[in-house]
Amino acid sequence: MQSIRGPVDAPGLARIRALVANATPQLIGEVARLGLGDKDAIPLWYGEGDVPTPSFICDAAHKAMLAGETFYSHKRGLPELREALSSYMSHLYDQRIDPERVTVTASGMHGILTAMQAILQSGDNCVLVGPLWPNAQATAEFTGAETRVVALEAENGVWRLNLETLFAACDDSTRLIFINSPGNPTGWMMESTQQQEILDYARRRGIWIMSDEVYARLVYERTVAPSFLDIAEPDDAVIVVNSFSKSWAMTGWRVGWLTHPAWLSHAFTELIEYSISSVPPFLQKAALVAVSEGEGLVSDIRERCRQGRDIVMSALLEHPRVAASMPKAAFYAFFQVEGMDNSLNWAKQLYQATKVGVAPGSAFGPEGEGWIRLCFASSPERLTKAMDRLTNFLSEN
Ligand SMILES: Cc1ncc(COP(=O)(O)O)c(C=O)c1O
Repeated sequence: MQSIRGPVDAPGLARIRALVANATPQLIGEVARLGLGDKDAIPLWYGEGDVPTPSFICDAAHKAMLAGETFYSHKRGLPELREALSSYMSHLYDQRIDPERVTVTASGMHGILTAMQAILQSGDNCVLVGPLWPNAQATAEFTGAETRVVALEAENGVWRLNLETLFAACDDSTRLIFINSPGNPTGWMMESTQQQEILDYARRRGIWIMSDEVYARLVYERTVAPSFLDIAEPDDAVIVVNSFSKSWAMTGWRVGWLTHPAWLSHAFTELIEYSISSVPPFLQKAALVAVSEGEGLVSDIRERCRQGRDIVMSALLEHPRVAASMPKAAFYAFFQVEGMDNSLNWAKQLYQATKVGVAPGSAFGPEGEGWIRLCFASSPERLTKAMDRLTNFLSEN
């Protein structure tokens, strides 16, 4: 339960809103900066693959631009995209999800921002499950809310959420529980039974649930991860965050969507008006093609990640200095190294010695210190080379 804020140390910062001035830089960037412009770098630090967006999606954007779709657009998304997302979700979760419950956002990140702006304010607290991708906690804090992180427990290599600890962290000021499953950086995947217990608790206490499901399709033993949408009623205070970034190879496009009770639509219309006005319509046309014709792509990406996971995990699990467990979902290896007490320094040393770029566990909160995250959404050749270098480094240092 520690704040992510650091000290203010430059005179000009006093003129900036304190919450923003005190923000700590994302630590992944601190390692990645070492490799800026270096063609020999093997960048496995960020959460993205190495495959560019396929041409059938790029062509749709190009075609829409040439057809003049370059004007302001619908605030909550083109009706035809919301309709397509509604049928995609309805099919995936075997229930009717009305387009009125779908809002298109400029990325998953923008979805989280918009939803938190609608819910949180100073005096509230937001309980999050960690170690976690730092942006969600930072965004909650920028609203003025207090945050509390409940740590997953690693038991015999398996991540577990203790619900008693989660509920004990909530009090009368708790307005939101934020959960990311499948989880970045751990690869943890929450089961439906736990989702149901959290939903029951949140209903009783009048607490919102925000479920970040951007890795929902990156699962290795099923087609889709358990979702709060499987169990929630349409009017429950539950918001599910999704994104085109990971499963459609579209990180740079910045398109995502929220699924929410229809009665939130008005609030989202206002908030989007006062942030981006609308997601660029030609990008939405590309997203429409991605979600309507992209199932082959989604399974290709999943298979590439599965291959990547096998290469990376077999090298890590064989090494006597490494402790790790096989991730069930998402595209990260999250592992401990014997004798490593500062993950930021270790990641920097690894990069300097081998050009292999990884993310320090401390980037995911104090709960992540002692761990390293490596993204395996890359080609088998690249990952094999990276693992040869990384395991040599481990043996020599
Ligand atoms: C857990 C999680 N949620 C949300 C996002 C946001 O994805 P995007 O903003 O690219 O849609 C990321 C990106 O890394 C993530 O890891």
